Amino acid sequence: MRHFLTLKDLTAEELQTLVERAIELKRMHKAGEIYQPLKNKVLAMIFEKSSTRTRVSFESAMIQFGGGSIFLSPNDTQLGRGEPVEDSARVISSMADMVMIRTFEHAKIETFAQYSSVPVINALTDDYHPCQLLADMQTYVEHRGSIKGKTVTWVGDGNNMCHSYINAAQQFGFKLNIATPKGYEPNSDIVNNAQAEVALFTDTASAVKGSDLVVTDVWASMGQEEEQRKRELAFADFQVNKQIMSLANDDALFMHCLPAHRDEEVTADVIDGKQSVVWDEAENRLHAQKALLEFLFLN
Ligand code: CP
Ligand code: NVA
Repeated sequence: MRHFLTLKDLTAEELQTLVERAIELKRMHKAGEIYQPLKNKVLAMIFEKSSTRTRVSFESAMIQFGGGSIFLSPNDTQLGRGEPVEDSARVISSMADMVMIRTFEHAKIETFAQYSSVPVINALTDDYHPCQLLADMQTYVEHRGSIKGKTVTWVGDGNNMCHSYINAAQQFGFKLNIATPKGYEPNSDIVNNAQAEVALFTDTASAVKGSDLVVTDVWASMGQEEEQRKRELAFADFQVNKQIMSLANDDALFMHCLPAHRDEEVTADVIDGKQSVVWDEAENRLHAQKALLEFLFLN
């Protein structure tokens, strides 16, 4: 049995195959082909934070695959009333065929996985968002071909998305420049583990030069809402705008996992402009996670 808590849970070869499979599943879906490898299977989805894309993509994936999903939130389950994670994991995994979790502490999903008898998927923790990276890698490949040997620049917060980009740089073989304000760098253990691929910057312009892909995310993630004002000041020089994009390669793409705050971390002319592939990126959550579900169920 395999879990998907970070991109490191799969080999580089398996991830490559997954991206190719996602592209094929997308083609099949667009052609109207019915493919139901998960008939009668159940995905339990635990959401302790809000979601649009993740919920719709996993639910749609399970319906299209012939199975079903159950939405569980702390508000209306015993999870929110303090039932131990270990007990919840044993019970939920005894009835569902796979469990997807969006939560705060990464340690919680690790504990859940330890006590689960079925595969567990990380649908975002404070530290990682690996499902988003599957979609991002698929999107890059569809638009530009292999990302191996390319340069990607991450602009903004050294957050969960940034950490998953570091993992992706190692697994997919690209160079990753990371521009953050001082004090908002990614976790140093994760960076130190990826010294061959990652370079840290405190200046967006230097980081973005020669990039094939520019990526950013909100300045305040879920759970950091009360820091919004403080972060707006700290991140003022870390906006992706036309001028920053003009320093990247001419054919550079722009990505953002969404939801976005226009004219904060990215200007409207960039996210709604020609280099932006954010709508394909969002749609690919569906196709990439179908490839992941198929992989985890059938392995
Ligand atoms: N990108 C992403 O995970 O979006 P949601 O929060 O809407 O699921
Ligand atoms: N970094 C963001 C990503 C949302 C999909 C957050 O954690 O809120």
